[in-house]
Amino acid sequence: MSTINLKRLLSKKKLIPLIKNIASLYKEGVTIRASDGTLIFEAGEGARPVEYPLTLGDETLGVVCGGEKTAEIIDLLNYIISSEYEKKTLAKETLDKYKEITLLSDLGERITACLNKRQVAELIIEEIRKAIKFDGISVMYLNRDTGMLQILASSNQAYFSIALGAGIAGSVASKGKGEIVNDVSSDPRFIPGPNPMSSIMCVPLKINDRVIGVINVHSVLPHVYSAKSLKLLATIAAPAAIAIENARLYEDMRETFLATIQTLAATIEKRDTYTTGHTERVSDYSLAIGKSIGLTDSQLDKLKLASILHDIGKIGVKDTILLKKGKLTDEEFAEMKKHAEYGHEILSPIAQLKEILDGVKFHHERYDGQGYPDGLKGDEISIEARIIAIADSYDAMTSDRPYRKNLGQEEARRELVRGSGTQFDPEIVEIFLKNSAHKGRQG
Ligand SMILES: [Fe+2]
Repeated sequence: MSTINLKRLLSKKKLIPLIKNIASLYKEGVTIRASDGTLIFEAGEGARPVEYPLTLGDETLGVVCGGEKTAEIIDLLNYIISSEYEKKTLAKETLDKYKEITLLSDLGERITACLNKRQVAELIIEEIRKAIKFDGISVMYLNRDTGMLQILASSNQAYFSIALGAGIAGSVASKGKGEIVNDVSSDPRFIPGPNPMSSIMCVPLKINDRVIGVINVHSVLPHVYSAKSLKLLATIAAPAAIAIENARLYEDMRETFLATIQTLAATIEKRDTYTTGHTERVSDYSLAIGKSIGLTDSQLDKLKLASILHDIGKIGVKDTILLKKGKLTDEEFAEMKKHAEYGHEILSPIAQLKEILDGVKFHHERYDGQGYPDGLKGDEISIEARIIAIADSYDAMTSDRPYRKNLGQEEARRELVRGSGTQFDPEIVEIFLKNSAHKGRQG
C-alpha cells in the first residue's frame, strides 16, 4: 500500500492555488479525485473530456479530469508524487538502517562482555525481540561431537535437540543458508512441535563457513516474514555467532583450567590417603553455603577454586609430619600450620588465581582473631575463607583420622555450635546447620 496520501500531498505542497491558476489560464475545468472516488479538488467551468490517472508504479493514487491542456498539470503532479515517494522511501531506508545499526551496536555492547553461551543466547533473543515480530524464538547450538542441534535459549523455555539435517532448522544448519518457510504445513521437512506455528524464518550462526548453530523465529500466522526480515536476522546472526563461539572457547578454557586445578589438588590427597575425597566434600559444603547466603556467580566461582585448593600448601609440608599417625608435637604442628602460607606462595604466580589467594591463606583464621597465619578477626577474614573454615572443620570432624575415629554428624554439628562466634562466623554456622539439617531430612 502506498504511503502517499494525494489530498494531503496537494495541500502540503500548496498545489491547489497553482492548479487553479493553470486551469484559469487555459480556461479548462479540472477535477481531482482520490482512487476511491472521493472529490479532492474542483475548479474552472470548462469541459472535462479527458481522464488522466495519477500513478505511482503499478498503483493508481487518483484521477484528474480535464481538457487537453490539463496534461501539463498531470506532468507536474506525477513529478511531485514520484519525488515525494523517493524522499519518503529514502527517509524510511535511512531510519531502518539507523535502527539496524543501533540494534547491532546494542547487541555488540551487551554480548561481548558475556562469557556464557546460554546468557549470550538470551541476550540475542532480547535484541531480536526489538526488531522482529515473532510468537516464538530459539537459539540452537551445534554439538559437533553428537551432530545434534541443542537449544541454548528459547522464548518458551523449551529445550530439545534435533539432528543436523533434520527439520527446517537442521536443514538450514546443514546447508548453511538462511530460509523463510511461510507455510510450514506444505513443507515436508517440517517437524511439528508443541508450539503452533505457520511461518518460520531460520538463519545459520556461522564463523566464516563453519556453522555453529541456528536462530529460529516463528509466527502462528502464515506469510509473515519477508526477504527484508531474513536479511535483518542474518545481519544479527553474524556478531551473535562470534559471541557464542567466544563464550564456548572461554567455557572450554575454564573447564581445562578447573581440571588442572583439580589435578593439582588431587596430588596432595594422593600423599595422604586419609584425606581422600576431603577436597571434593569441602568444595561441595562451601558451595552449598555460598549459594544459601546469596553469593554471586563470580563469588561462587572464586569460592569453588579456593575450596578445591585450600590445602594445596601441604605439598610443602614434610612427609614425616604430614603422614604422621600419632599426634603432632608443638614444633611439628607449627610446621603443619605453615601450609596456609605455602598455599598462598605456590598459587600467587598464577594470575587467574589472584582473587582466591585470601581464601586459601586464611582458611585457618578464627572469627575471634586467635587463628593463623595473621590472626585476622571477624570481617577482616574474607567471606570465602570464613566459609571454607566451617566446611573444612565439619568434614575433618566427620572423617576418620589416623589418630581418631570420626565424631559423627551430630557431635560435629554440636562442635560447630560450640565454636560459633569464637572459631567460626556465627551467621555462616547457622546457615550451614540449617542447610545440612534440611539435607539430612531429605537424604
Ligand atoms: Fe588446611
